Amino acid sequence: MKAATARAIFHDLAPEPESFRDLVLEGLSRRDKEIPCRFLYDERGSVLFEAICETPEYYPTRTEMAILADCAPEIASFIGPHCQLIEFGSGASRKVTLLLNAMEQPAAYVAIEISREALQHATDALASRFPGLAVVAVCADYMRPFDLPELPESNGGRRLGFFPGSTIGNLNPDEAKLFLEGCRRVIGPNGAMVVGVDLKKDAKTLHAAYNDAAGVTADFTLNLLTRINRELGADFDLARFAHDASYNAIAGKVEIFIRSRADQVVTVAGRRFRFNAGERIHTEDSWKYSVPQFHELATRAGFTPAQHWVDPGNLFSVHLLV
Ligand code: AVI
Repeated sequence: MKAATARAIFHDLAPEPESFRDLVLEGLSRRDKEIPCRFLYDERGSVLFEAICETPEYYPTRTEMAILADCAPEIASFIGPHCQLIEFGSGASRKVTLLLNAMEQPAAYVAIEISREALQHATDALASRFPGLAVVAVCADYMRPFDLPELPESNGGRRLGFFPGSTIGNLNPDEAKLFLEGCRRVIGPNGAMVVGVDLKKDAKTLHAAYNDAAGVTADFTLNLLTRINRELGADFDLARFAHDASYNAIAGKVEIFIRSRADQVVTVAGRRFRFNAGERIHTEDSWKYSVPQFHELATRAGFTPAQHWVDPGNLFSVHLLV
């Protein structure tokens, strides 16, 4: 299906929606209960995530923005004029403006995003902000294989993939390798990739970032139960569950769970699930990489690291891969 919006060209490649019900019931039936982290992002979850990015403890967003503001001219001169900039999981398309502003006559901005409303809104806003730039919205799940639609003529410009925010950290290393291999197919042999990656660091900083004092991250995690109550007719009592995030320094990831505060039974879609006090539902991992570790991952996925930038506090890294 292909429909023209007022400004952005819209391509709908969204796969059939998956069954939230089936995946939640299956995840809660496991011995180690778990629910995939993509379900954290309903409407309220997306708003709460934006609010997390504004908390004083959550350093990744503002640190990455500062790095990008500094390195954008270098990236722009590396990739050259008439570039086709392709963002994976574009969300609000905020960080990409730092690159677009620095680039010489970018030919096209292609936003790939599963959330149709966010995609349409962000790409239309971007199209009016950058008149003359071809803005293409592709509604697709970038984690599953899909063919990029034909892009506007680029006058020999190169393709640059963009995956900011350390979203790569929410994939395990095998999934991250598969994702990067898929990116290579999309950007082609002459393309390059810019990836934002959160760095390994002391447990105290990471603990604070995922346990902010205002409790926004806790609300974000527990909102998953609110969503299950609403969409699947469940009876989770949020006061009887807690957000539980800690850094596993051996694995190199922040592990996030919903922990039961008591022995209890919860009904979800007509099925009863027993929770022992302290039992947890795994909702999210956020993997952290040192620069050499990320280089090793990128190399295994077939990329050559060309350049990277780190903030003065050694919190976050931005990588240019070819
Ligand atoms: C989206 N993603 C990179 C965030 C992270 O840091 O892993 C999600 C998040 N979860 C809790 N806080 C932030």
